[in-house]
Order: sequence, then C-alpha cells, then structure tokens
Amino acid sequence: MLLDRLNRPLRVLRISLTDRCNLRCNFCMPPDKNYSFLKRNELMSSEEIEGIVKTFVKLGVRKIRLTGGEPLLRKDLEEIIERVVKIEGIEDVALTTNGVFLRKRLRELKEAGLKRITVSIHSLNPKKNRLIVNRDVNLYEVLEAIEEARDMGFKVKVNSVIIRGYNDEEIIKLANYFKGKKITLRFIEYMDVGTVNDWSYKKVVSADEILARLSKKFHFYQLPQKPEDTALRFRYKDDNVEFGIIASVTKPFCKGCDRIRLSADGKIFTCLFSDKGYKLPKKGNLEEFIKEIWENREDRYSELRNKIYRKRKVEMFKVGG
Ligand code: GTP
Ligand code: 5AD
Ligand code: SF4
Ligand code: SF4
Repeated sequence: MLLDRLNRPLRVLRISLTDRCNLRCNFCMPPDKNYSFLKRNELMSSEEIEGIVKTFVKLGVRKIRLTGGEPLLRKDLEEIIERVVKIEGIEDVALTTNGVFLRKRLRELKEAGLKRITVSIHSLNPKKNRLIVNRDVNLYEVLEAIEEARDMGFKVKVNSVIIRGYNDEEIIKLANYFKGKKITLRFIEYMDVGTVNDWSYKKVVSADEILARLSKKFHFYQLPQKPEDTALRFRYKDDNVEFGIIASVTKPFCKGCDRIRLSADGKIFTCLFSDKGYKLPKKGNLEEFIKEIWENREDRYSELRNKIYRKRKVEMFKVGG
C-alpha cells in the first residue's frame, strides 16, 4: 500500500472541474477582489479525467469528490460522472455544489450514475444569504432542489460554514430545519484557506461553541470516529437524524488525512493549504510521478497552523475545498 511520510494511505481524490463560480462567498472569493480564471482549453477534458482517475485507482484511491469552483458550470459534468462511476475500483462518487443550478440537472445527474450530493447552505434567510454569497440567488429553489434530490434517492448532505457575525445566530435554525428534512447537516468552522478572505480567529465559531448552543435545544450523542473522518458526527436522540461538525481549526484531523486534490488544469495538491501544486505530466509515467509525491508528503497544516506562517496558499475555488 502507498503510504506518505506520516503513514497515511491515499484513498480520496477531490477533483476541481472548474475554478469559476456563479457566487462570490466572502470566505472563498470575496466580491471586491479581481480573479483570473483558467481558459477553457486549459481545463482537463472528461477523457483526461477518466485516464487520471484510473491511475489514481491503481495507487489506492476509492472515493472521488467532484468540486469546483462550481462544478455545475461544466456542461460535460454528466459525461465526466458517467466515465468515473464506471471505473473499476471506484466505490463512491460525490458532488459538491452551491445548488443554484442543481434542480434542472438532477435527472441527468441521476442517469449519469451519481448517488451522492453535498449542497452548501449558509443561511435560511434570503437577505443574510445575500450578504454571504454576494449574488442574487433563489434560496427557496436551492432548498427545493435539496428535497427533490433526497426524494429521488440521492444521499444528500448540507454544508454550512459558520462565521461569527454573519450566521452564527442561525445555528439552531439551520439544525432544526435540516433535522426536520432528515438531511445530514455539517457545520464547518471558518478556515484560513487561501489568501483572499479576511479570516481571523475572531470569526471562527468553534465546534465546542456550536455544540454548546445546540445542546440547549436538542438531545444528541456522539458517534464513533474513524481516523479518516473530516467530521465529528452526532445523532439526535429523538429521530436518529445525523449532524456533523468539521472542526479543522480547533480539532484538526490531519492524522488520518487520505485526501489528494486535483485542480481543473491538472495540478495535484497534497493539502488544502498547499503553497504549490504539481502539474501532471501529459507524457511519461504518471503513476510513478504521483507515487513519488505521495511518498514524500508530510502535510499537516491544520495541526501546525499556529506555528507556521504561510504567505502563499492555494485558493479554495481552485481546489474545491
Ligand atoms: P464525505 O465524503 O461526505 O465524508 O465528505 P467530506 O467529509 O470530505 O466533506 P466535504 O467534501 O463536504 O467537505 C466539507 C468541508 O470539509 C469543506 O469545507 C472542506 O473544505 C472541508 N474539508 C474536506 N476535506 C478536508 C481536509 O482534508 N482538510 C481540511 N482542513 N478541510 C477539509
Ligand atoms: N472555510 C470553511 N469552509 C469553506 N468553504 C469555502 N471556503 C471556506 C472557508 N474559508 C466551504 C464551501 C463548501 C465547502 C466545499 O467548503 O462553502 O461548503
Ligand atoms: Fe462559494 Fe463554493 Fe463558489 Fe467558493 S466555490 S464562491 S464557496 S459557492
Ligand atoms: Fe489534510 Fe491538509 Fe486538511 Fe490536514 S490540513 S486534513 S493534511 S488537507
């Protein structure tokens, strides 16, 4: 088995399909900044993605997450899914989306073979949501798409990034809403990912604080943790619905990190906070190339956050979180 310097196997490949997005979330692509995006001819084609995934499978990858930017901006997303789900050895393919264009694509996504979708919802209040995503979106349509996806048999999760002063007053409301819909909600601590957001510790609402707030209203218990889990998992006692907290800032989970990331132009990143990516060669031995990178990997940024200062960090919308 392929192991990195900290004895971690490679199991998950997170593929960014585009660095473009129709939203401008404060914590990822603040609207007051200028962005330069990859040109269409720089993006990996569906065929190239298929070939790359096949190589990763040989090295141990079993799970694929398709992300962005916003992956629904790719017209060939369904074709990519079709190619990837068929690859022998791939056990799980999931999609991360902001949900804005989801509803009208659900049928085609299903037919392509997708089974799992994660949608980001940071507020249930349209005005507050506008202040977070900085674009006019029909929040109700996104919420409807989530229910429709669930009813069509997709496994659906919702991600909410909690930021003090923006949506921390909505923790209970979000929990209550998705509990009622029987959908797993994951609260995410605001991370210092990339270089363009205005992250500070003051804006982070810790897992402990989120739990303290939730325990005033709900009864729940913690579920056992696997080393590779990103989320602390909990279950409400009254209806068995699950929720989670992804506490990369206050409870880092680097010890079991089995994830590698691929940008839309075919560069690999060994950590969400990497300062550089490695362009996959078009010719030559791809397997050896990746193997060497993984064997030399010793990333554990979240565990070292307070000890190191890193000026350059890849942007979230380039590697999809
Ligand atoms: P599942 O396959 O459903 O278990 O997904 P996941 O737990 O990997 O979570 P998802 O892809 O929905 O990501 C949720 C949040 O966790 C996002 O904000 C990601 O950026 C963050 N996240 C995922 N993987 C990592 C990681 O390796 N390190 C850090 N720091 N954050 C991560
Ligand atoms: N901190 C935490 N989560 C973030 N995301 C984007 N930027 C950040 C950040 N700075 C979330 C997205 C999406 C998931 C992939 O990552 O909102 O839910
Ligand atoms: Fe928001 Fe996701 Fe788009 Fe970033 S990529 S701006 S987090 S919707
Ligand atoms: Fe993995 Fe880097 Fe996240 Fe740690 S900070 S869990 S090493 S991606």
